[in-house]
Amino acid sequence: MPSKSNEIIFPKGFLWGTATAAHQIEGGNTNNNWWLFEKSGKIKNNDTALVACDHWNRYKQDFDLLKKLNCNAYRMSIEWSRIFPKPHTLDKKALDHYQKMIDELLKRKVIPFVTLLHFTLPIWWFNEGGLLNRDKEHLDHFAQFCRILAQTFKGKVKYYNTINEPSIVMLGYLTDMFAPGEKNIFKAIKALGTVLLMHGIAYHAVKSVDPDAQVGIVHNVQIPRPYNPQSLMDRLMAQCVDYFFNGAVIRALQKGKLPLQCIFHHKELLNTNDFIGLNYYNFLLVSPKLKDLATSATDNPLCGKDKLCAGLGWEPYPEGFYLAIKRMHRSFPHLPIYITENGIGTDNDAWRQNVMIDHLKMMHKALQEGIDIKGYFHWSLIDNFEWAQGYMSRFGLVAVDFKTQKRTVKKSGTLYATIAKANAIPASILKKFPKEIYKPKF
Ligand code: GAL
Repeated sequence: MPSKSNEIIFPKGFLWGTATAAHQIEGGNTNNNWWLFEKSGKIKNNDTALVACDHWNRYKQDFDLLKKLNCNAYRMSIEWSRIFPKPHTLDKKALDHYQKMIDELLKRKVIPFVTLLHFTLPIWWFNEGGLLNRDKEHLDHFAQFCRILAQTFKGKVKYYNTINEPSIVMLGYLTDMFAPGEKNIFKAIKALGTVLLMHGIAYHAVKSVDPDAQVGIVHNVQIPRPYNPQSLMDRLMAQCVDYFFNGAVIRALQKGKLPLQCIFHHKELLNTNDFIGLNYYNFLLVSPKLKDLATSATDNPLCGKDKLCAGLGWEPYPEGFYLAIKRMHRSFPHLPIYITENGIGTDNDAWRQNVMIDHLKMMHKALQEGIDIKGYFHWSLIDNFEWAQGYMSRFGLVAVDFKTQKRTVKKSGTLYATIAKANAIPASILKKFPKEIYKPKF
């Protein structure tokens, strides 16, 4: 890969995209379990995704924005509860609508990456036990959904992500910050196992219909660190968190063993990735002393006082991105990697620009070491409904005024457009962002 000292060049054919998820942008998704969670008052400011970005009606305008950002790829999810509002009852109109969306992307020469499950479950499926029910008949509903999509999109969609972030799905059974908001470690482990099985189901379903499709999971790599490195307890806990959030997912895909399972062997999980989707955001500080998993290590005055870590309060750790890429490469050395999400929730767009450049530099470092990274999808195209944080946490390269639905490209969006167009971080940009923001102290 060519690289001049005064600019950072990415490989030819590299994909530059943004990522979104149906429930977070479409609006009108009142037939899934997140809607139930929203109605139970668990979301900040009592926000709901009832309208969200009204993307269901404004998708053409949003895809124009995608083009304005010079993106050649786009990751979107298809809402299962729209396609099957009831068991075995296909909503043809909803399917046609998604087909039109895909056509509009292709018209703009944007490569679609379709996520089959991005957190939300149809209410009827959730009521049948959701992720805690592993009956064949129950899981077959998901296979049916995946097959229908692959049949419908054959020849138009080549890339599928099976499950978005299996380990984050588990949070719904560990905290009340995520649907369904239960606190039961046994249920959490079961849900994680089920969703990993659903990855295998999705892989085989898509391949049975479209053998040429490229299919891969999306794993959110967490970087757990002991709060106090001198404390044995903190170190043990960090290892335990690492097992459940990273190791268990990787092991299932490598060995066909579900979390904490030694005896059963799920052969159907082996060789179920044509590529690895990697999401990266933050590190976690771990200690029994901390109420939750902390995401800010320093008392850096930048973080907090000036709200530079606003939104989710995640302190950036660009080096962690490099470590995350290395880890996934070590675990699956023969598979290409797509960065399926990376970004920051903040109102401070200057901060977002810094964070973006620092992360892209880390990705480039991994590329230079020979790791086969084929694309980068920034989270997200537009500000959207950030799950339990509601509309407070803004991840978009494009701002949305949720009162008027007006979209405005942020400076970070323009910066991203320049990089995507050049397939490089040009010297002029590197000059503006000469050094890394900072390293967390741990
Ligand atoms: C990911 C998730 C996205 C988005 C993002 C920012 O975990 O896949 O849906 O919410 O985090 O928080």
